[in-house]
Amino acid sequence: MRNQIAAANWKMYLTWQQGQELLESLASQIPALNGNHQVIIAVPFPYLTGSLEKTAGKKNVFIAAQNISDKKSGAYTGEVSGEMLASIGIPYVLVGHSERREYYHEDNAILAAKLDRALENGIKPIFCCGEPLEIREQETQNAFVETQLKESLFHLSAEQLENVVIAYEPIWAIGTGKTATSQQAEDIQKHIRSVVATQYGEAVADKVSILYGGSVKAANAVEIFSQPDVDGGLVGGASLNADEFLAIIKALQ
Ligand code: PGA
Repeated sequence: MRNQIAAANWKMYLTWQQGQELLESLASQIPALNGNHQVIIAVPFPYLTGSLEKTAGKKNVFIAAQNISDKKSGAYTGEVSGEMLASIGIPYVLVGHSERREYYHEDNAILAAKLDRALENGIKPIFCCGEPLEIREQETQNAFVETQLKESLFHLSAEQLENVVIAYEPIWAIGTGKTATSQQAEDIQKHIRSVVATQYGEAVADKVSILYGGSVKAANAVEIFSQPDVDGGLVGGASLNADEFLAIIKALQ
């Protein structure tokens, strides 16, 4: 059974005081999570250690970093390495979020290196992919996403790939209030799984969790998560509100 995951992405929101309140509220209300249900909360770097403390002992609740350097170590002011994240016990990291690709010029080759840095330090990457609006309008989204997967992921071994979570996030649906329909999400996520199967075989593809991201909220989570190739969501805006995010967690299948 694949992991079904509700992942929060706080982005560059919340002070640490607000973050602590949110974590306390979540920690006290998150229902006991079944074996394959997971909650992952991606917080800003300065909050990582404190967030680990706030969620300590909560089964299947994990803290993630939002970024990782493509370099191993060295004179790279402002960067945070995989080794550093591993040394404080961070189990997950976001890689390739569209905001990183767009505003910080992270291309498929840099993202491939970031995946390597995470995996060689025992950190599981949540690899984000997804097309901009003009690609969706040309109906070439399948080929676009396939290239993202090939150029960043497919140098990994099958064993490594099993430690990667894929998040499909159409850029036109992120923070816009415009959600892909559950059928649009299912169609492309099924395609993503088939592309992974072609490269690594059905058994591996079957194990990889593929999340949907882009304006997921309490009101649409059940419908989106009910699709067979949607294994949960990566949630931005709605993850900043405890009640909203708790409802999304409860929508896991
Ligand atoms: P959103 O963000 O839920 O606010 O659309 C999703 C994301 O960027 O991961």
